[in-house]
Amino acid sequence: MNTASAPGKVILFGEHAVVYGRPALAVPVTQLKATATITKKSPRGIWIEAPNINLSKDISQLPPDHPLAAVINSVFSALGTSHPPACTVYIQSTIPVASGLGSGAAVSVAILRALSAFLGQPLSDEQVNEMAFEAEKIHHGIPSGIDNTVITYCKPVYFIKGRPVKTFHVGAPFTIVIGDTGISAPTKASVRSVRKLWEADKPRWEKVFDRVGEIVWNARQAIERGDLVDLGNLMNANHALLQRMTVSSPELDRLVEAARKSGALGAKLSGGGRGGNMIALVIKENAPAMAEALKSAGARRTTVTQVE
Ligand code: PMV
Repeated sequence: MNTASAPGKVILFGEHAVVYGRPALAVPVTQLKATATITKKSPRGIWIEAPNINLSKDISQLPPDHPLAAVINSVFSALGTSHPPACTVYIQSTIPVASGLGSGAAVSVAILRALSAFLGQPLSDEQVNEMAFEAEKIHHGIPSGIDNTVITYCKPVYFIKGRPVKTFHVGAPFTIVIGDTGISAPTKASVRSVRKLWEADKPRWEKVFDRVGEIVWNARQAIERGDLVDLGNLMNANHALLQRMTVSSPELDRLVEAARKSGALGAKLSGGGRGGNMIALVIKENAPAMAEALKSAGARRTTVTQVE
């Protein structure tokens, strides 16, 4: 039996603009995780059990572009396994699906690691990252690669598409409260609608993305200095630009407003938007009260994470 887990993630700054080459900052959320377990026992062939999505099937019953089938088959082809042994791939996750917390990438990374270890040829981090990126293309269409990167390496990243992975220094630990609207919103759809806006007026949106890029750069400096007031203001500024990109929603805006009214240093949506999650920057002691305030404003669940 082989098991591997991968964390969730939140994007602190720069979602969407990152698809257009601007930087973004993301951190792992280790309180949430996806786990893949491979066992030799199998009712038939390569059996997939994913109770979170009510899936219990032989791989041959899934279309080849199904994200789980694609990840599993990519391991066999990367390792040159022409006759894969019968096994069960059991997938469990505490990361909500389609909510901007990296559930798809975490499941891919966990499967890639557990299955390659089961076959006796563990993949390197670089291979896992590359192969999880391929799977992200099925989930997202045109992903930047930020999700698979932060989840594979499980450390804070300053990410620019196509560039080597860079981590960043955290001058003073800070606390993020994540509020879930409970609305499932596929990233593919929001990425596509930003693409439509961009195609209709490239100069205008390139300027907006430049502005996001500056915010991300300043946010990185603020994190390195441990300047949480500055960091909060930058979050608010980033949220305003995401609203302009039309990827916020009334539910996200309501939670962001509630967070600010309840003393957050800053708040913004996180990830693809249109639903999913938002984040609020708080003083550690205020995290429980912030979680309550977000729940009163309609959050289905909250997660507190410390960035250090
Ligand atoms: O997976 P999500 O919902 O956290 O979104 C990823 C962030 C985007 O910038 C919207 C897309 C991408 O591939 O970078």
